[in-house]
Amino acid sequence: MSEASGKTTVVIRVDPDRPDPEAIARAAAVIRSGGLVAFPTETVYGLGANALDAEAARGIYIAKGRDPSDPCIVHIAHLRDLERVAAVRPRAIATLAGAWWPGPLSLVLPRAPGVPDVVTAGQPTVAVRMPDHPVALALIRAAGVPIAAPSANLFTHTSPTTAEHVLADLAGRIDLLLDAGPTKVGVESTILDLTRTPPVLLRPGGIPLEWLRGLLGEVVVGGHGGTVAPGMMAKHYAPRAEVIFVSGPREQALRELEDHARRLLAAGKRIGLLLPEGELAEIEAPGTLRYSLGRADDLAEAARRLFAGLRWLEQQGAEAILARDLGEEGLGLAIRDRLTRAAGRGNGK
Ligand code: TXA
Ligand code: MG
Repeated sequence: MSEASGKTTVVIRVDPDRPDPEAIARAAAVIRSGGLVAFPTETVYGLGANALDAEAARGIYIAKGRDPSDPCIVHIAHLRDLERVAAVRPRAIATLAGAWWPGPLSLVLPRAPGVPDVVTAGQPTVAVRMPDHPVALALIRAAGVPIAAPSANLFTHTSPTTAEHVLADLAGRIDLLLDAGPTKVGVESTILDLTRTPPVLLRPGGIPLEWLRGLLGEVVVGGHGGTVAPGMMAKHYAPRAEVIFVSGPREQALRELEDHARRLLAAGKRIGLLLPEGELAEIEAPGTLRYSLGRADDLAEAARRLFAGLRWLEQQGAEAILARDLGEEGLGLAIRDRLTRAAGRGNGK
């Protein structure tokens, strides 16, 4: 248990693959009674409330300090539940859902009348996804209601990929936390707006853009002077340290980072490097903190380790975190988006 600002946060450890039904029943009861439960998904931990209960959903915004203009993603466990939250027949999206649900893909659809304004931030649309995590699915099923859940971090802070990250931000602000260990994907879901033709990518995430294009043909990339998801403000996913994010060919980027590192060290700053394993040793800057993103050719590993790295370096007292662009292939696009925003240079409001 953990107590900070009012609520007592109960923490229950569960097996990620076969969660104890009693623990799930207890968490589901909290959701049904209007409370807040943080739970694991395959991407990041979510902060859940009953999506059909305006008062409960309001609690999410209070706990996170979240701007009310930033809508929540609604999580379902069965395709047939789509009609409870979206004004669209499940058949209409069967191909997409068949390919990636459950999975890290959120679809923006016209909203159903039962979804309160607070969940959609007053938009006529709703973002829906079916998470690929046994704990999340069991919780939604046991609660018997769709669950609205943003990432379980304080507003604009780095998303949580472990229960410890959730507690660091939200202890005492939520009722219950289901701890199932670290999440698998590490970056949030891809958000695709299906209310436009062709569909618009609002946020790159766990499902790569190439896969969407492979299935759907044309997909427009939002965010560059065009459409962004509401709430996708430039300064987002931000650790408390300054993030310096450089792009360009590998060698050039590493030399540029080395220059930054030396300059900052000379100014007496505590700095951290967030790079693929082999590259950490290539920066000559004694006394720097180093966090490995794994093998350079494994972007899934880099995505999985990204937020944990930002948080760890911040916790170690890094005043500046240095990282480089890993390209836009596959999960690279999502990693680029998160680091650009962490550096405060993202597009959007
Ligand atoms: O992987 C994820 O998506 C995680 C897990 C918990 O499911 N959730 C997550 O939620 O990342 P959050 O709140 O941190 O990001 C949700 C974003 C909002 O900031 C907004 O940009 C977009 O989803 N969104 C939600 N509803 C929308 C809508 N109706 N239209 C456009 N964008 C929407
Ligand atoms: Mg978030």
